Amino acid sequence: MKILLTGDSGQVGSNILELAKNQHEVKALDIEKFDFSQPEKLKSALEKLVFKPDIFINPAAYTAVDKAETEKELCDNINNKSVAVIAEYCRKNNIFLVHYSTDYVFNGSGNQSFSEDNVKDLQPLNYYGKTKLEGERAIQNAGCNYIILRTSWVYNHIGSNFVLTILKLMSEREELKIVNDQIGSPTYAYDIAEATLKVIEKIDLNATREIYNLCPSEQLSWYDFVLKIKKIAENKGYKFKINSISGIPSYSYPTPAIRPLNSRLDVSKLKRQLGIELPEVDLSLSACIGRAINI
Ligand SMILES: NC(=O)c1ccc[n+]([C@@H]2O[C@H](COP(=O)([O-])OP(=O)(O)OC[C@H]3O[C@@H](n4cnc5c(N)ncnc54)[C@H](OP(=O)(O)O)[C@@H]3O)[C@@H](O)[C@H]2O)c1
Repeated sequence: MKILLTGDSGQVGSNILELAKNQHEVKALDIEKFDFSQPEKLKSALEKLVFKPDIFINPAAYTAVDKAETEKELCDNINNKSVAVIAEYCRKNNIFLVHYSTDYVFNGSGNQSFSEDNVKDLQPLNYYGKTKLEGERAIQNAGCNYIILRTSWVYNHIGSNFVLTILKLMSEREELKIVNDQIGSPTYAYDIAEATLKVIEKIDLNATREIYNLCPSEQLSWYDFVLKIKKIAENKGYKFKINSISGIPSYSYPTPAIRPLNSRLDVSKLKRQLGIELPEVDLSLSACIGRAINI
């Protein structure tokens, strides 16, 4: 199949490019020419594109959750207005759109997992979440065929992300304090890419308009995740300076953007309808740290 890909330097996009290029004809869009910060220019650049894809995979996004509180226009252009442009381009040209969203579209209330049909809790607590929700709605309103994969707490074996930051901090510091009251599912970008390719094989590209939650079924706090990172890395031979890791509440670690305490996503729809589930957190984390060592 012919795939048009955005965000190929990002966590999810780089893994998609790596995995998809062996099975599909993939064209990655150059950020200079297809700049989401300028939706009108993006629209005319897409109209001039000679490559005619079957599928448009769009992991490009503004993901700096805290900075989004002060860079509102930029964040809105990238996560909402440009997504509307892409959805309209897909509708006009009969291209299937694969898009990614986030647990941050929910209000974080309660302690149950949010399912795809929960609309009452679609009340983002931060600006990033607001623009991601508006991006979802732009796709739903455009009239193209699509899947939106809502994922959470994404990490990768390269780049700058939570897992690699924690590995670094544990080798530099003796003490760490980690938030222990936000509960969610850390998701390895490689698994998102692999699942995306499975999803597009299984769905009807001419008739699907669905949202799926996409993360591991295990739910834990950032604090518990750090303990896992430490244990798995030590088993692989890492030596750390750290001797104390303690849990703290979110209110002791204030950030410009509010994070939901409950980021649990119900992943049963993806398993039930498409037979797809992500590996357990330990397995993915072990694969990620193993790859990080070898880079
Ligand atoms: N990261 C998370 O924890 C998380 C959690 C839940 C959901 N998600 C969602 O999952 C998807 C993938 O996230 P990710 O973690 O892979 O993101 P990421 O690593 O931050 O990558 C974002 C990509 O978007 C590109 N991009 C940024 N500004 C752009 C612009 N103006 N024009 C065109 N491209 C631009 C970036 O290019 P440069 O590298 O050149 O900036 C990069 O390739 C996103 O939809 C995100 O909202 C992420």
